Amino acid sequence: MKNEKILVVGGAGYIGSHMVKDLLSAGFDVITLDDLSTGHRDLLPGGTFVKGDLGDPKVLDRLFTTHNISAVMHFAAFSLVGESVENPLKYYLNNLAATATLLSAMIEYRVKRFIFSSTAAVYGEPVQIPITETHPCNPTNPYGTSKLAVEKILCDCDAAYGLKYVSLRYFNASGADESGMIGERHARETHLIPLVLKTALGEKENIRIYGVDYPTPDGTCIRDYIHVSDLTHAHLLALEALMSDKESAVYNLGNNQGYSVREVIDLAKKVTGKNIPVIEAERRPGDPARLIASAAKIKESLGWQPRHENLEAILKTAWLWHQNEAAKGAAGGGSI
Ligand code: UFG
Repeated sequence: MKNEKILVVGGAGYIGSHMVKDLLSAGFDVITLDDLSTGHRDLLPGGTFVKGDLGDPKVLDRLFTTHNISAVMHFAAFSLVGESVENPLKYYLNNLAATATLLSAMIEYRVKRFIFSSTAAVYGEPVQIPITETHPCNPTNPYGTSKLAVEKILCDCDAAYGLKYVSLRYFNASGADESGMIGERHARETHLIPLVLKTALGEKENIRIYGVDYPTPDGTCIRDYIHVSDLTHAHLLALEALMSDKESAVYNLGNNQGYSVREVIDLAKKVTGKNIPVIEAERRPGDPARLIASAAKIKESLGWQPRHENLEAILKTAWLWHQNEAAKGAAGGGSI
């Protein structure tokens, strides 16, 4: 597989940049397409960079005519549940319509391997825990609906054009590359772990716990946190599977282990050695009480095994990254 060219759409983002790093280490040629609307050029570990919009047919024509691309990995989506409720068309235009344009260019240029970043949000409110891939899909927000719609389009494209795809339904992506050189940087941060660590750094005064009256042992929401490098490793296995002509498939990616918001904060106190003041706040609309994945299917089919199952180890990698970011900011080198 060495020297095969992989197009990474959204390679300058959080998960995309970790993917580019892994692909380069595995010997692939990588081309990143990113419009830098939420990604960061300085997070890109290498390869060829093209600044452009995945929904622009001219950009795609140029890419597919210039490069002999073997497979496409697609990370370029908006992913904030709350924002998707306030502005659903932003999500349908980017996550759905632009993805359909990308798929159409792939079919035109006979590129027939696609790895898609899907989400636990396709399931909606869980009726059974842990969640397996056969769990009913009833998304409760436009973000989840946009991802589920792409999954249906992929299924149709397989039947009609022989497009082979792997759709990976991420639970809560977290942590950072062990080097501390790349990690999670969002202009508008809403995720628990980065906010908790920014509080430990003193960049925020406190962390708000959204809801303390959930039907869970300590009253706070439970999530299944998966390390970003375990996610990208799963993409490499999915790519290998598609390259050896395996059938299309949908897999969950999680650790089958839940941590409550309070447990995350307590572990973050331990890892950072800092005080992390909390404020108990109202529930955030749309948050299910408990999301825990069964990842048995991908373990069995592709031999995936997470290397960072323990949340403390995940937090340590994120802490290293956030400390480095803070140091860069202090030196005037931050770019958000
Ligand atoms: N939380 C707080 N305080 C905060 C931020 C979050 O208490 O300041 C809580 C949330 O209410 C939730 C938990 O921490 O209970 C985790 O919240 P995140 O925002 O970190 O992550 P989500 O579980 O809401 O969302 C993630 C992805 C989405 C994806 C979803 C799938 O970010 O893209 O998982 O379940 F859709």
